[in-house]
Amino acid sequence: AGAVDAAEKIRAVIENEKHPIAGCRTVSIGVAQRMQNEPVRHWQRRTDEALYQAKENGRNRVVASDDNKSSIGDSVWLSWQPEWESGNTGIDEQHQEMIKMTNYLISMASAGKGFKEIVRQVDQLLDHIVRHFEYEEGILTEKRYPYYKSHAGIHRDLVSKAMQLKESCRNGEALISALFAFIVEDVIMGHLLVYDTVFFPYTREERAGSQAASAVILS
Ligand SMILES: [Fe+2]
Ligand SMILES: [Fe+2]
Repeated sequence: AGAVDAAEKIRAVIENEKHPIAGCRTVSIGVAQRMQNEPVRHWQRRTDEALYQAKENGRNRVVASDDNKSSIGDSVWLSWQPEWESGNTGIDEQHQEMIKMTNYLISMASAGKGFKEIVRQVDQLLDHIVRHFEYEEGILTEKRYPYYKSHAGIHRDLVSKAMQLKESCRNGEALISALFAFIVEDVIMGHLLVYDTVFFPYTREERAGSQAASAVILS
């Protein structure tokens, strides 16, 4: 509430002060309070949403993000985009599951769920990631992906870093938010949405090939 009052003061000062050249000026402000353990990116997104809402509602106003919005299930941090499809059904299903689990984890943390519950969910997600990496490496070997070695090396590094962080969280040397940040920034944003897309031409080939084959059968 303090931030909303401060923003309101700023807005009023700007509105009442005439600029010598521009004349009357107004400002739209979005405010969001960071929830306990809420990832910075998610918090920034809520602030942005509040700002857009202030502009949409006619500008020259302060809009505070509805904190209830961050309750479980309501807020989706990331939704699946068609361009993230690799063409391999197994990989795509696992990638979608990874994003779904991360969304859930973020909403759990934002809703202030207990440490134990969050750790259990983090464990499930990490298990899923490890199994997914193994599966993906199997497909990349099958496809004779030329950069297989470096890709598998990145997987290995990500897993060992995640395990180290998990250990540090367990014995209180790191905050669970550091592990979240790692999963969100390094595993999802950095790896899944960047490095994985490099092999798509190899996994998409399969789909293009099977379409060509069915076209031949049809003709
Ligand atoms: Fe992947
Ligand atoms: Fe990968």
